Amino acid sequence: MERILTSIDVGTSKICTVVAKMRDGRIVEVLGKGVVPSHGVHKAIVLDIAEPTAAIKESVAEAERSSGTEVKSAFIGITGHHIGAYNNRGAVAINRRDHRITQREVDRVLASSKSLPIPPEKRIIHAIPRQYFLDGEEVIGSPLRLHGYKLEVDTHIVTAGVTFIQNLAKCVQGAGISVSDLILESLASGEAVLEDEEKEAGVVLADIGAGTTDITVFKRRAIWHSRAISLGGYNVTKDVAIGLEVPFSVAEELKIKHAGIYPDESKSKEIPWGPEGRRTVRYEDLSHIVRARLEEIISLIFADLPRADWETWEPTVLVLCGGTANLPGLDRLGEGILGQRVRIGRPTGLPQGVGQFEDPAYATGIGLLLWGAKYGYAGRNNNVESVIKRFFAQLGRWRLSINWPRISFGGSRNGRRF
Ligand SMILES: Nc1ncnc2c1ncn2[C@@H]1O[C@H](COP(=O)(O)OP(=O)(O)OP(=O)(O)O)[C@@H](O)[C@H]1O
Ligand SMILES: [Mg+2]
Repeated sequence: MERILTSIDVGTSKICTVVAKMRDGRIVEVLGKGVVPSHGVHKAIVLDIAEPTAAIKESVAEAERSSGTEVKSAFIGITGHHIGAYNNRGAVAINRRDHRITQREVDRVLASSKSLPIPPEKRIIHAIPRQYFLDGEEVIGSPLRLHGYKLEVDTHIVTAGVTFIQNLAKCVQGAGISVSDLILESLASGEAVLEDEEKEAGVVLADIGAGTTDITVFKRRAIWHSRAISLGGYNVTKDVAIGLEVPFSVAEELKIKHAGIYPDESKSKEIPWGPEGRRTVRYEDLSHIVRARLEEIISLIFADLPRADWETWEPTVLVLCGGTANLPGLDRLGEGILGQRVRIGRPTGLPQGVGQFEDPAYATGIGLLLWGAKYGYAGRNNNVESVIKRFFAQLGRWRLSINWPRISFGGSRNGRRF
């Protein structure tokens, strides 16, 4: 069955709407996009309703024109410092006479894993099963139809601030679009840029956008950790503006056009700017400033990764996406700091029409579509209240009932650490 699917990435620097065609649960063609500058969004958080609403409208209108479709609903990304993440375990007794596990038992154990003391201003937006156990033994994949006495599940719980969810939903709905679902941005980016083998063996994904760096850790094909740091390309530009004594807009242009993490000998030593290029900055100074901030961001990505079971697992690769991952030499810088493989994640290997999205800045927009096609309800007609209510009451139910692919254990470990 064919369906049209839309995603809207409400970022700090850009609003990106992508329209795609889905067939049998897979994206088969990207039909069009609308990318416009973002306003009223600070560090990925909606601080104003009118400006983001207008920008979303503009972005959707552009996507409608380029795709020749009408957008009614969309999958929306959410991130920011208000995001919280916990790993929790739920357990239930199998009371049925035949001790067979049905969807009801799976729903019960997942619901029990969500019993956490969540502050009143936060709500669970994702509760993702990582590993089931039956009578103490690890289950490969879904426990459905197995027999046992006690079912347990390890779940990754992601929470978001109620106010931030509401404001974002209001802007989207104010633009005339129903929210099909709200999805953690880094989960979406992971769908677009990570290989299954990386998720199995262990990978850290960092989406370095303009206002935030969203970090997600996957291992055994499941999410292990998620967090957002309020630092990104905006801070790099600000450093350049202060360090080189140039206006912010000039700093942004110098960064995008000329900056590299390591000085490039082939580039001219002085970069002209200003009226008729009468003023100049030193190329080496620009790259020095940019490098210093990126060193800090990369170090912070690893500063508080959970080390609890580090002995049995280390990530084998760091994947960087988001617009800031365009900085030449960033992968080399990461490898130097971490002593580990680092690669730039681009939404590649996707269907027809995706070539225009190879910039790592599109990881979230494309990932939201992929996530929606895999797990979402395309085309549902929702209003803000029902979306939020569904988050609070039902989201776990359907998402938790996903039949996860069969997984094998013992991912590659090379004995090195970050
Ligand atoms: N070629 C480039 N070199 C360096 N930085 C770049 C380049 N292209 C884009 N950027 C930076 O990437 C950032 C935008 O990235 P992205 O589009 O992923 O952010 P966003 O999604 O709008 O923000 P966030 O995810 O933080 O809310 C900006 O700070 C921009 O300066
Ligand atoms: Mg982003």
